[in-house]
Amino acid sequence: MTASRRKFMVAVGVGTLAAQIKSNALAQALNRTGLKDYYAKDFKIGTAIGSDILENNDEALAALVAREFNAITPENCMKWERIRTADEGWNFKDADKFVDYGLKHKMYSVGHTLAWHSQIPDSVFKNAKGDFISADQLKKKMTNHISTLVGRYKGKLTAWDAVNEAIDDGPGNPMRKSHYFNIMGEAFIDHTFHVAHETDPKAHLMYNDYNNEQGGKHEACVELLKRMQKRRVPIGGVGIQGHWSIDGPTPEEIEKSILNFAKLGLRVDVTELDIDVLPQVWNLPTAEISTRFDYTPARDPYKNGLPKEIEEKLAKRWEAIFKMFIKNREHIDRVTTWGVSDDVSWLNDFPIKGRTDYPLLFDRKRAPRDAYFRLIDLKK
Ligand code: XIL
Repeated sequence: MTASRRKFMVAVGVGTLAAQIKSNALAQALNRTGLKDYYAKDFKIGTAIGSDILENNDEALAALVAREFNAITPENCMKWERIRTADEGWNFKDADKFVDYGLKHKMYSVGHTLAWHSQIPDSVFKNAKGDFISADQLKKKMTNHISTLVGRYKGKLTAWDAVNEAIDDGPGNPMRKSHYFNIMGEAFIDHTFHVAHETDPKAHLMYNDYNNEQGGKHEACVELLKRMQKRRVPIGGVGIQGHWSIDGPTPEEIEKSILNFAKLGLRVDVTELDIDVLPQVWNLPTAEISTRFDYTPARDPYKNGLPKEIEEKLAKRWEAIFKMFIKNREHIDRVTTWGVSDDVSWLNDFPIKGRTDYPLLFDRKRAPRDAYFRLIDLKK
């Protein structure tokens, strides 16, 4: 047991009564101290806020977030399909709640996302006859969407994942042939950044993607960012989503990419970190959310718990990655995990529905896992 785990167990009341009484003051201090405090000099520590807090009013989870994290991203509630109604009106309820929570706790709050091919109905891109609208029409629609959304939360959000996942995973990593791209070309990206910047000039605007720290997709991302800079698009940073597995990518590969982005004068945020321990069932690692595979028991090996040796391997993996983040902290503003605890992670249902995954720093009982204590030990 690590020293930090022992201290934590005493503080939260696992132990003898005498030990509990003695450590009352320590408990109170520790109750307010979380990962964010250990990393205060390095970067913000963030999490995604999903329906448990926004819709189900899970107060215990909200309190855990306030103790451990100082940055938040809405998991779904600002995406087009959630924040717009079928007739293209607005539904700000959950987004307002998210923003208020961030203000209350003085957090680095991120908007997610302004232009993304997923979680947006096809009808946005089509007219009443079912034909695709023109570039001009789409541009107007985007202006309205972005200026309304960014404008409503102006000065309340620190940053925006402005454009999400515009690069394709196929050979050569061309631009993704999304409706946005098919109608407007790369101009859809520029337009998103320009409107967001004009609406809230102080917001830090990012291009966000998965696997943009690896191989050909990294190179394609660097090229895209260079083209955007040449066109004077007001971009401040790049988001590396960080949907990684227990086996890869290596910290060295990630580090190289962070340095490449930094060389472009861009800040780096790790925006959606989770570490998947389940068997990878596809050849190409992807976080493209429409990817789906069938459930088989062999693909869900840890249904009844994670074996000790895998928990240890996982802890070592988190530790190695954070060691590298700390080394490169001058370039990194924030490291955000995609959710708080294993029970609420999207990976239980992606890319196969109904599996049992262990991708976050808190387990199904909302207790910190070994990896959490390793990350604290790195700061001692
Ligand atoms: C995921 C959410 O976590 C799920 O709840 C939802 O069903 C699908 O989207 N990349 C992103 C995130 O940028 O918005 C995605 O979030 C995960 C992949």
